[in-house]
Amino acid sequence: MARKGKATVVGAGFYGSTTAMRLAEYDVFETVVLTDIIEGKPEGLALDMNQSRPIEGFETKVIGQSTGPNGEGYEAIAGSDVVVITAGLPRKPGMSRMDLIETNAKIVRGVAEQVAKHAPDAVIIVVSNPLDEMTALTQLATGFPKQRVIGQAGMLDTARFSHFVAETLGVPVGSVRTLTLGSHGDTMVPVPSRCTVDGKPLSELLPADTIEELVVRTRNGGAEVVALLKTGSAYYAPSAAAARMAKAVIEDSGAVMPVCAWVDGEYGIEGVYLGVEAEIGKGGVRRVVETALTDTEKAGLLEAAVAVRAKQADVKDL
Ligand code: APR
Repeated sequence: MARKGKATVVGAGFYGSTTAMRLAEYDVFETVVLTDIIEGKPEGLALDMNQSRPIEGFETKVIGQSTGPNGEGYEAIAGSDVVVITAGLPRKPGMSRMDLIETNAKIVRGVAEQVAKHAPDAVIIVVSNPLDEMTALTQLATGFPKQRVIGQAGMLDTARFSHFVAETLGVPVGSVRTLTLGSHGDTMVPVPSRCTVDGKPLSELLPADTIEELVVRTRNGGAEVVALLKTGSAYYAPSAAAARMAKAVIEDSGAVMPVCAWVDGEYGIEGVYLGVEAEIGKGGVRRVVETALTDTEKAGLLEAAVAVRAKQADVKDL
């Protein structure tokens, strides 16, 4: 398949560098640009990734570019089709994602303004935490149409849930389908009614209390990794999720994925960035896909919308 287009990853830390590497290895983009404020870091990582091309067999070129406090270097992202924003601090053990809000809001706002200036037609995928709020802030700071700013959370939470189910039942992970909606935080809404193993409802395979334990573990999935790592947060599964979203954009695939998307009317919820399933294509979100929910799941989603809306209202002042 012919390679096309340009993906930019802002932030060359663990999340950003693994995302850039996955995007390069897909071999679908012409160029992957990796940026960071640390002089030499993105350049060094890009050089290293490019040197893996003969071994891994991909032709995508990786360009590393450090950026300055006044946007110096951002010319390198011009013409990007998709930009993944990973800039920001990760959690330390005991911290909630919300504890990062003030620091990361300043970082993400600055990045978003530069992206709007240099890549005005890009689809933006936000991954910096707290996710739902940083996604809302990015849309505000760029002024982009809401469909063109998406957050990555649901793909990751769903992957964690599927992994836990597969481990518990001792089945291949490929036979498991799960779904989480809501926020990337305390009001995450796992959707057991949409969970199946080889097409069989999960509720026929596991007792309700075991499902609930898996739901709780999924909700705390990020914190579990942070507690083990002690410095930094998860990045292998998160980068896999963000990279798949970017691939769906460049391929204009219409893949339906759980993402943080602007919801306005679906599920009776008005005006908020929230975790829902959406069809992803070259313009970002083509449409939010509503799924049948039980009363409890629907109530969970409405509760998540209220909680996230309250927090998102604050971000304009950060
Ligand atoms: N522009 C570009 N890069 C920046 C900026 C900025 N304004 N500010 C910070 N960075 C860079 C840092 O220099 C660092 O290289 O962002 C990178 C963050 O990397 P890590 O500390 O390794 O964090 P990471 O694990 O990659 O997580 C990034 O994703 O999951 C979320 O909560 C996590 O918000 C965090 C983000």
